[in-house]
Order: sequence, then structure tokens, then C-alpha cells
Amino acid sequence: MSSASKEETELTAADDPIEHFKEWFAEAKGKEPNDPEAMTLATVDAAGCPNARMVLLKGVDERGFVFYTNLESAKGEELRSNPKAALVFHWKSLRRQVRLRGDIEAVSGAEANAYFATRPKDSQIGAWASPQSRPLEGRFALEKEVARYAAKYALTSVPRPPHWSGFRLKPLEIEFWRNRPFRLHERLLYARETLSAPWKTSRLFP
Ligand SMILES: Cc1cc2nc3c(=O)[nH]c(=O)nc-3n(C[C@H](O)[C@H](O)[C@H](O)COP(=O)(O)O)c2cc1C
Repeated sequence: MSSASKEETELTAADDPIEHFKEWFAEAKGKEPNDPEAMTLATVDAAGCPNARMVLLKGVDERGFVFYTNLESAKGEELRSNPKAALVFHWKSLRRQVRLRGDIEAVSGAEANAYFATRPKDSQIGAWASPQSRPLEGRFALEKEVARYAAKYALTSVPRPPHWSGFRLKPLEIEFWRNRPFRLHERLLYARETLSAPWKTSRLFP
């Protein structure tokens, strides 16, 4: 039996990059001290200017990668006018990166409701109280809104706001990057022409 550790052997392609992602994600959950599900979401605005920010991965399966947000935020507007995006994970403790590019679809109302129902009540109230990405004249204005919605829903469950839901990135490209000595990093790209086409793999110079 070989004594080489997993890190010393060549990055092997799985039949399915989603399975590959799930393996790395599980390792990241065991290693990263904070937010292994944090990913950079890149979008493009109406003038063609890129925009990027962190969001949290809340679901991954064969259909794609899901995150939740305020639909009237900058990212919400940008994804509505140009439903394409890129995602980047960087797991510093593992020295690994995963990059994805693809099309965006809105998750169904039922899927968003089911996820919203799992959130702590304070987060649910926050979704009502914060018109994300719009100007805030002072912290008090936010606290006032939080108090208003907390009172409104004090005795009932909090419904999902109509302006709060999720998006799914349906990947056409997924690249796995792994740190190697002397900057000879390994890059493994899975790409498919369409969502129903088979995945093809290739290796890229670092
Ligand atoms: C680690 C981390 C995770 C975040 N997760 C989310 C998220 O899941 N959804 C979200 O709307 N904003 C999230 N944010 C805040 C966004 O980065 C951003 O500030 C906010 O969504 C407004 O972005 P926009 O103006 O480009 O729409 C997160 C920030 C950090 C640092």
C-alpha cells in the first residue's frame, strides 16, 4: 500500500464535480474555524461593471448552489437584469479554492419558505427590517425597524418577506485549485456546454 498522503497524490477527477465539491466542502467544515460556507458572489451591473461580495452557501445538489438574500439589494437587481454569476470559495486552512460560473435561477417560493422557517426569529425579523443596500441615515433607523417588526410578530411566526428569497447558480464550469509546493499549484476544470451535456475535465497550468 502506498504511504503517500492524499495531498501528495495528484488531484483526481471524479465522475461528477458536485460529488468532488461535497468532499472538499466536508473537509472544509472540519477544518475552517469560521464560515466554511462563505463564498464570494460576483455579478455584473447594468453598466457592465463587476460587483462582488460574500454570501453563504445554503444548499448544494445536482441542480446547483443556493444562497439567500434581499431581492431588492444591489445583487438582487443585478441578478435580475443579468442572470449569470460566478462564485469563489477560498478555504484558507486547506489552501484550496473552488471557482464556479453559470446561470442563475430563482428558487421556488416553497423552497425559500422552507429555508426561511429554519432561521432564528431575530434573523427573520431582520429580513423584514433591513432594506438591504439602500442608504441608512443612522443605526437608530435600523433599530427602530427591528423593534417595529419584533412587536408586529411578537405573538406569531414570521412569514417570509416577499422581497427575500434565494438564487441557485447552475454551474457550467467548476474549477478545483489546490496549493502545491513551489507554486506548482494544481488546477482541475470541469466544464459542460449546456446543463444537460456531460462534464469534460481538463487540467490547467497554474
Ligand atoms: C461571511 C459573510 C457572509 C454573508 N452572507 C450573506 C448572505 O448569505 N446573504 C446576503 O444577502 N448577504 C450576506 N453577507 C453580506 C453581503 O456580503 C453584502 O454586504 C450584502 O448582501 C449587500 O450586498 P449588495 O449590496 O451587493 O447586494 C455576508 C457577508 C459576509 C462577510
